[in-house]
Amino acid sequence: QPTRLADYQPYPFRIEKTDLTFRLDPKATRVLSRIRFHPNPARPGRHDLRMDGERLRLIAARIDGAPVTARPDETGLTIPADALPDGAFDFEAEVEIDPSANTALEGLYMSGGMYCTQCEAEGFRRITFYPDRPDVMAPFHVRIESDMPVLLSNGNPVAQGEGWAEWDDPWPKPSYLFALVAGDLVAVRDSFTTRSGRKVDLAIWVRAGDEDRCAYAMDSLKRAMKWDEDVYGREYDLDVFNIVAVDDFNMGAMENKGLNIFNSKLVLASPETATDADFERIESVIAHEYFHNWTGNRITCRDWFQLCLKEGLTVFRDQEFTKDMRSAPVKRIEDVLMLRARQFREDMGPLAHPVRPESYIEINNFYTATVYEKGAELIGMLKLLVGDEGYRRALDLYFERHDGQAATIEDWLKVFEDATGRDLAQFKRWYTDAGTPRLKVEEDWQPGDQGGTYTLTFTQHTPPTPGQDEKPPRVIPIAVGLLNPNGDEILPTTVLEMTEERQSFSFPGLATRPVPSILRGFSAPVVLERESSFDERTFLLAHDTDPFNRWEAGRSLARDVLLSMIRDDAAPSEPHAQALARLVTDDTLDPAFRALCLRLPSEDDLAQALADAGTTPEPERIHTVREGLATYLARQLQKDLVRIYEEMETPPPYSPDAASAGRRALRLAALGYLNRIDHGARAASLFASADNMTESAAALACLIDGGRGAREIAAFYERWKDNRLVIDKWFALQVAHAQPDMAAQVAARLAEHPDFEWKNPNRFRALMGALAANHAGFHHISGAAYRFYADWLIRLDPVNPQTTARMSAAFETWTRYDAERRAMIRAELGRIRQTPDLSRDTFEMVSRILAAE
Ligand code: ARG
Ligand code: ZN
Repeated sequence: QPTRLADYQPYPFRIEKTDLTFRLDPKATRVLSRIRFHPNPARPGRHDLRMDGERLRLIAARIDGAPVTARPDETGLTIPADALPDGAFDFEAEVEIDPSANTALEGLYMSGGMYCTQCEAEGFRRITFYPDRPDVMAPFHVRIESDMPVLLSNGNPVAQGEGWAEWDDPWPKPSYLFALVAGDLVAVRDSFTTRSGRKVDLAIWVRAGDEDRCAYAMDSLKRAMKWDEDVYGREYDLDVFNIVAVDDFNMGAMENKGLNIFNSKLVLASPETATDADFERIESVIAHEYFHNWTGNRITCRDWFQLCLKEGLTVFRDQEFTKDMRSAPVKRIEDVLMLRARQFREDMGPLAHPVRPESYIEINNFYTATVYEKGAELIGMLKLLVGDEGYRRALDLYFERHDGQAATIEDWLKVFEDATGRDLAQFKRWYTDAGTPRLKVEEDWQPGDQGGTYTLTFTQHTPPTPGQDEKPPRVIPIAVGLLNPNGDEILPTTVLEMTEERQSFSFPGLATRPVPSILRGFSAPVVLERESSFDERTFLLAHDTDPFNRWEAGRSLARDVLLSMIRDDAAPSEPHAQALARLVTDDTLDPAFRALCLRLPSEDDLAQALADAGTTPEPERIHTVREGLATYLARQLQKDLVRIYEEMETPPPYSPDAASAGRRALRLAALGYLNRIDHGARAASLFASADNMTESAAALACLIDGGRGAREIAAFYERWKDNRLVIDKWFALQVAHAQPDMAAQVAARLAEHPDFEWKNPNRFRALMGALAANHAGFHHISGAAYRFYADWLIRLDPVNPQTTARMSAAFETWTRYDAERRAMIRAELGRIRQTPDLSRDTFEMVSRILAAE
């Protein structure tokens, strides 16, 4: 029953117009539809009219006004070709649905007393019978009848009265971009005038009481609208732009045309309730959804295999936006950290799949780090290969050529070929081939009379992934720079284009053997395998002009120190501590950058690195050693860290801007170390005095890390018990920072708490996600966490398959571990798979994970 890319066929009908009327009722909503179909010339001949539809009670159906007797099956409705007129016709239906019973949060559901929708990818079929596929686009007219005070849908408002409202969306769209909201909401309003003079009314709709936490989201929206005009020449195209915050949401947010729906945690923020990281994330997701208006909505995807067409590109665009709003090097490092932690992990395990997959059972399982984040990396590589100018020309052509269409990756690559004259046949492998390439580097130095020649030889190899054994070489843009041993740069960043399996690049005429800086800016999503000396890394850490590689040098130093401590019982390295001290005390460097340099590789990163090198990771040992190094560094750097902690204090009032956030990040990184040797003194006093969530949460985390904080945990709860988003943090912090042997117990105790509303995805993820992220706790040899986690997945599955399936990926790394842990995880996965009536979402995930052995 998998759906395959190779089986794509155009839909046999086009839609001229879709009219919908909603008579809202919590238990029995009526949806009346009138759809004007035309035969699609791309599919000549006569065809049955097949529409998708799930869990719909069909009341009546008509063709051109005449009743038809049609009996729906499990997945839809078929009207045989011989019951259809020759040319165009109107299909009408009346169906009944039950939003209050919709706990899966797909289609029309209720959240906190309001009606809302989530249709991507295939939720519209739970609203009415429809060709629920992205290549069928139509203008929508929507009438909502309800006694709710606020009634919203896509497009522009056209009419309203007591108990009803009508909306018209002139831009043809697929059903996945449909949205409806009805509730008792208040608006925070503003406006934006596009560069061609259209005045757009902006509104963020929230529940009364939340209005004072919308300012940052609104400001982000206006900056995003301006940025898309300035950088991509893209203007907004409706009179209104609405954003609604909802508490029950499976993902982050959704780009429905003119009516974005957001997880409330990505809208609501105030200094007291949101951290610097929350503010940054809000800014980027608001921008992401807004940018979809062009990359996703005006140009959409032909089918769901092309998901990266909109997601990879839109993530790339939101990353560029954040770079322009904040610090570009810091954002690049954060993005690479995330890519390695999530996408490399995925790519090296049983869930590996190409950026453009070839088959799926449940498409919701492919909203992954590979499609999104690696998809964005591919855009970055393309841009590097064709240059900024070429990229701009290609994008202009893309918007011109494909506006109003449902496009493919082939279309996307073709605009680059046409705009730049470059052949991208080999580049396309990045879309079709899964797996992270390994790049080996050898160097050669030949002194000579006319100066010496330095040669870099690269070898690429991509290990097999499920269903793909052979991986032909890809084109890899390798940004390199060369430095003189005195620290001067003798070759500024140059992009080498590797196209062969093994390839050399020579640099003649050099006075001395240079020190190379390879893969600057992380110019390709590959694993660089290069032996390099301790001295060379400390040299790069001190002198590299590329900030990413400067950070990377420090990162790899720390990683190697940790690996040899874990594997060979080595002592911590004093030269490493000294190099780190020099860097973090360098006041010429951005504090945010220095904060990143202080962060040690995570336990999961180390487990991956060990497994990669053929050593079975031992979670307790990794934890103990990493803690040991952190405490050692705290002692070695104590004086510097104390000075940083004092100097980086930000004067009130709190401001979420990047510079202040960077100072706080450095200060709190210092606190994380000092907390190991000051018996919680600083953390306790910071917790008592903090006027913002960034510091409160960090201080509380430190206290829990140190086995303290019972009083503070209680105080935090008392203060915030009426704020769901803050209480999510309260759950997450306690589990994420629990000692490894206590993590499952802490999680189990919190799962009994009256506030553990497990049907709310944010709450479920706060507790369970924190447990999965507590590496040594999750993988504790007792197996208690595995069991507890699996129990909860089994419980959640019938309620919310999508979130269950997504969270089952916590087990994706299981083959890394020892036989005892593997046996326990295998048993849990088997138990989940055998659960009666398991959703196909979770079934697909668990089956793929289990297939790894
Ligand atoms: N298109 C949304 C975004 O990335 C994601 C929505 C995905 N939702 C889902 N149920 N698969 O902006
Ligand atoms: Zn998106």
